[in-house]
Amino acid sequence: MSLVNQSEQWKTLESLAGGIAGQHMRDWFDADQSRAAKYSVEGCGIKLDYSKNLINQEILTALFDLAQSQQVAQKRDAMFAGEIVNHTEKRAVLHTALRNFSGEPVLVDGKDVMPEVLATQDKIKDFVHSIHSGEHVGYTGKAIKHIVAIGIGGSFLGPKIMSEALKPYWHKGITVHYVANVDGCHIQDVLANLDHTDTLIVMSSKSFTTQETLQNTLTAKQWFLDQGGSQSDIAKHFVAVSSNVKAAVEFGMDENNIFPMWDWVGGRYSLWSAIGLPIALTIGYQNYRELLEGAYAMDCHFKEAPPEQNLPMLLGLLGVWYTNFHAAQSHVLLPYYHYLRGFPAYVQQLDMESNGKGVAGLNEEVDYATGPVIWGSEGTNGQHSFHQLIHQGKVLIPADFMFPLNVHNQEDTHHAMLASNCFGQTQALMQGKTYQECYADLEGSNLDEETRKSLATHKTMPGNKPSNTMLFDQLDPKTLGALVCMYEHKVFVQGAIWGVNSFDQWGVELGKVLGNQVLDKLVDTDAQLDFDSSTNQLIAAFRAANK
Ligand code: F6P
Repeated sequence: MSLVNQSEQWKTLESLAGGIAGQHMRDWFDADQSRAAKYSVEGCGIKLDYSKNLINQEILTALFDLAQSQQVAQKRDAMFAGEIVNHTEKRAVLHTALRNFSGEPVLVDGKDVMPEVLATQDKIKDFVHSIHSGEHVGYTGKAIKHIVAIGIGGSFLGPKIMSEALKPYWHKGITVHYVANVDGCHIQDVLANLDHTDTLIVMSSKSFTTQETLQNTLTAKQWFLDQGGSQSDIAKHFVAVSSNVKAAVEFGMDENNIFPMWDWVGGRYSLWSAIGLPIALTIGYQNYRELLEGAYAMDCHFKEAPPEQNLPMLLGLLGVWYTNFHAAQSHVLLPYYHYLRGFPAYVQQLDMESNGKGVAGLNEEVDYATGPVIWGSEGTNGQHSFHQLIHQGKVLIPADFMFPLNVHNQEDTHHAMLASNCFGQTQALMQGKTYQECYADLEGSNLDEETRKSLATHKTMPGNKPSNTMLFDQLDPKTLGALVCMYEHKVFVQGAIWGVNSFDQWGVELGKVLGNQVLDKLVDTDAQLDFDSSTNQLIAAFRAANK
């Protein structure tokens, strides 16, 4: 296999990138009044305006050629068909089966997985109903009011951030608390304010081996017993989600309280599986199902829409354009919607854990970047802190702006102000402000000539900074499902082009192994320290402070 950067299509893009150096998007907008209409597409309730990007028709065509040369469509079809695309772990990658409403079977090793998927959805539905209706009560007979969802990584970020994003849909009377960090402050803070008789613990761990989640669950169990619950009451207050049912039972979970998932669901793609149980408990099963339906609609769009109208394809290719042909090292996500404030952190795991790899194909070390640092936070807060670097700093940071055209129960003045900030930022990034414009602003002032020139230089905004703007009507469950799925497939497109395995995470695994080795030395204080001198010194400091 030859690496993508050896391809003709890559070389064409390199020369096209050189060709637009020195040109300005402002001039492109001036020269072509139809630019916005030309570079806008809509799908599954999401309107994407990508006209404020450093592209023209020739560049787009070359990007589509690159995708074709790397067989993105064939790789996509292989994933949807249940082929072993995660070759280092010998697994199919089928989060798409979890939201497959086509009625068609999905085969893994010749076996249709859909009956199990549908049975688990029914189990979630029944359980959510029993909690919300008061049929399932705590051991003293009280209705469940609090859910403590324990998990980490994909077993935490998806449920937490989707629940947060769908606040207007929360079921009355239920409050969900999420705990991920093994730092005891977190779980202690959460449990301190709860009554164990109306609390349900949902422990989510695909592997059922993750240190943080096991420890936090043990702490929650001890708290439950210390508060007066007994061993036999645990079944009413603890449920688990895992693909490792055996380990969950050994841990003490009641077998009936275990919601299954499968090894063909990657952790960061798992919110569509029973890992989404806390979401369903928060917003009700019907809304949860609509979240899945939105993702299914985007799956269909990704499979069927031609490249020039295909949202994940366009976003993925634009990402490659900036990462590999403009040396952009980061990508910022800017949701202008308070409830979507966690979304950058969600995409951060999705993107960086998927494509942060250095080997393509079976064993070819790559010599090109495979993904930017993903970061961001809600607008307008960022405007008063880090936007400065995006506007005038010397690093190129492409941005994704997101904005709901309608919001639930919000007063118009705030919403219009939020919109004006969002749209105004995309405009400022694109057009900037020239030295002449800045100088002209100062002409009536009583500053001397030298000061005017100096100030105008400092105030000059280069512009030409790329951004996408995504608008949607209201952030309802369906639209959110489509939005999340759009980013999943964007990441897929990029992984397919770079030739990496987007579905393993060996770097994370090494951290887990070394962390456990260090823990052994912290617990056994007599054990000889035989790591590198820095790690030994850190362990010694901990031992000394915890004698
Ligand atoms: O952070 C690495 C990771 O493997 C993620 O991919 C996963 O979502 C997380 O750990 C938690 O794993 P588990 O669900 O097995 O506890």
